[in-house]
Amino acid sequence: MTRTPIMAGNWKMNLDHLEAAHLVQSLAWNLTDVEHDYEAVEVVVVPPFTDIRTVQTLIEGDNLKIRYGAQDVSTHDEGAYTGEVSTSMLTKLGCSYVVVGHSERREYHGETNELVGRKAKKALDAGLTPIMCCGEALEVRKAGEHVSFVLAQIDAMLAGLSGEEVAKSVIAYEPIWAIGTGEVATPEDAQEVCGAIRGRIAELYDEGAAEAVRIQYGGSVKSSNVRDIMAKPDVDGALVGGASLKADEFTKIVTFTK
Ligand code: 13P
Repeated sequence: MTRTPIMAGNWKMNLDHLEAAHLVQSLAWNLTDVEHDYEAVEVVVVPPFTDIRTVQTLIEGDNLKIRYGAQDVSTHDEGAYTGEVSTSMLTKLGCSYVVVGHSERREYHGETNELVGRKAKKALDAGLTPIMCCGEALEVRKAGEHVSFVLAQIDAMLAGLSGEEVAKSVIAYEPIWAIGTGEVATPEDAQEVCGAIRGRIAELYDEGAAEAVRIQYGGSVKSSNVRDIMAKPDVDGALVGGASLKADEFTKIVTFTK
């Protein structure tokens, strides 16, 4: 099976809705210029909630093939949950994806693997594709326990999901020590963990699920390092933070095969 590479830009808490319109427009122009084949490499932007309506209007209005999603979602359907956003609110806005369990949400909002798994299930039930994040801190890596640590996260996050659900999901391996630090994992580091995740999914489910699930690497991805990372057999894409905020740089990342 050939998995379609997925390059996603996680804007985090950057860009207001006016800046969002500018970035998406610039990205779309760039990708039109280079005749980007969206079927060959999927392009996704993940703006803050307040930008999504603007991004939707632009993408639908101009019939762009860029997909988009949200950075988090509630496990609740509706009601007295101040500050939360439901899956149906996201699907109404045409979102395809939702990031769940980013390390920043785990660190600053106390999100656990169990909660992240429930968010992923909620997303899947609504027809959204979850991008489920995992990854170890520097101390864990230094202790040489990164593979077992990440596989324990995977076991706990996927506990409530079927093989079919996992097959259509995206998993993002983002070592915390490589996020926003300029300290990129080597292609071999990325492959070691992404390969182990795929192996674990084969054990937990079957080869079909393992072959289908797309696994991204994230952490200081740039146009200068993306090609070597993407050359690894179990890396199917990148979840890009800082470098996704610049249209020209993200264009180069998306068009890494050129
Ligand atoms: P950077 O690309 O800025 O290191 O961020 C990675 C990330 O956390 C994407 O979700």
